[in-house]
Amino acid sequence: MSVRYPQVKKLGSPAELRDRFAELGLDVPVDDELEPTGPLAAPLTFTDGSAGAIEVANRFAVLPMEGWDGTTDGHPTDLVRRRWSRFASSGCGLVWGEATAVRLDGRANPNQLVLGEETVDGIAALRASLAPGQVAGLQLTHSGRYARPVDVPRPRTAYRHPVLDGRVGAGDAELFTDDELDELVGQYVDAAVLAQQAGFEFVDVKHCHGYFLHELLSGHDRPGPYGGDLAGRTHFLRSVVAGIRDRAPGLAVAVRLSAFDLRPFTAGDGGTGVPDGDGPYRYAFGGDGTGLGIDLTEVHQLLGVFEELGIGLVSTTAGSPYYNPHVQRPAYFPPSDGYQPPEDPLVGVARQLAVTAELTAAHPALTVVGSGYSYLQDWLAHVGQAVVRAGGASMVGLGRMVLSYPDLPVDVLAGRPLQRQLVCRTFSDCTTAPRNGLVSGCFPIDPFYKDHPQRVELTRAKKEAKARLR
Ligand SMILES: Cc1cc2nc3c(=O)[nH]c(=O)nc-3n(C[C@H](O)[C@H](O)[C@H](O)COP(=O)(O)O)c2cc1C
Ligand code: SF4
Repeated sequence: MSVRYPQVKKLGSPAELRDRFAELGLDVPVDDELEPTGPLAAPLTFTDGSAGAIEVANRFAVLPMEGWDGTTDGHPTDLVRRRWSRFASSGCGLVWGEATAVRLDGRANPNQLVLGEETVDGIAALRASLAPGQVAGLQLTHSGRYARPVDVPRPRTAYRHPVLDGRVGAGDAELFTDDELDELVGQYVDAAVLAQQAGFEFVDVKHCHGYFLHELLSGHDRPGPYGGDLAGRTHFLRSVVAGIRDRAPGLAVAVRLSAFDLRPFTAGDGGTGVPDGDGPYRYAFGGDGTGLGIDLTEVHQLLGVFEELGIGLVSTTAGSPYYNPHVQRPAYFPPSDGYQPPEDPLVGVARQLAVTAELTAAHPALTVVGSGYSYLQDWLAHVGQAVVRAGGASMVGLGRMVLSYPDLPVDVLAGRPLQRQLVCRTFSDCTTAPRNGLVSGCFPIDPFYKDHPQRVELTRAKKEAKARLR
């Protein structure tokens, strides 16, 4: 039987949330009152080595969220345009645009956006659809181990992994060669040049969630120029940044980073998540070698590399939605390919907040966008405001919450009460749907997706998953 934790939606006040954190032994700041003109409304400036100072109007950021709803050749569709138009009216000072593949075979799903000569105009139109003054970036990606450019996986990996190779069907043939990586560096730079043409202020050289460049960070065993020590494991990043500085001067570079990782989890008895394996584990970047603990020594060094490269904007996230989703997006209800939470999801939120606070404090030159707030639900802004005031993050990143309730920032900044019926309750349908080949959207709350024809298939997929995890 899986354990049931107290639901956040039943906590009636910020004080009750504070009490629950205290019960769990967690030190998370929670403000009692929101201040519409307080810390979340304050503008900030981040500085990039090439682009110089970029001003952001407030402390809310839309986090990148791919939608599994582009065309199969990487163009945006009406569904993508609808999502971006909702971000435009969110009031967020910064929009961190969704994962966009630098080449077709690097997509995580057959409907992911691709940035190329043929698609750049459609992607420029997305940028242009944002609100005046919103700063916007695009996340550039190769999905590596999780590449699925057609209906079956087509993994490409950095090194042989004892657990994950079996999960995705990867062997020696799937390893990227050094020559292939030299070519891939050029493709990231080509994509960055196009992103600048499309009007973005920055590109994110994505290093998170088990995708290729995140995996490279734990490539201790990879021989050659792209592996081994931290200098080798960041050779790819350094080469991409050098190329962007050369070919797209004035374009800022950011990184979204899984700032820590744990070993893969799997559904154990009663469907509750348990670690998949035991013993030493050296494949978690930001891990302490056990697979279950955190050690930020190398992460601090990596942030030092960012500073050396003139990168001024970082978003912290954690783990992977594929192999340890409870770490990456704490949820009460697991996605269909997941497991019941092995801990109160508030523990997962607090873990991301604590790591972000440590990194933000130690690297004052960086502007740090935190993640993992949506599980806080009605009290998201009460925690975000307290975190920003205390210097625990520069900005509050919003993922799932802006799918269900894109206007939350604008409501908070205007001092209006929350529209509680729109608050994300972490049903995970926006993850379950794409895991089952459907478009991603907030099916339980967003009226548009409530009426979407694919909802029938989603309900069937959820029933099957529920039976498996019972
Ligand atoms: C449907 C969906 C798609 C996502 N796609 C991306 C993505 O393209 N790039 C990325 O870095 N993170 C992606 N994420 C992770 C979010 O950016 C965010 O880190 C995560 O949802 C936790 O934040 P939250 O608690 O506010 O949801 C995605 C999350 C969801 C729910
Ligand atoms: S489907 Fe909606 S309610 Fe569920 S996690 Fe996603 S955004 Fe939140």
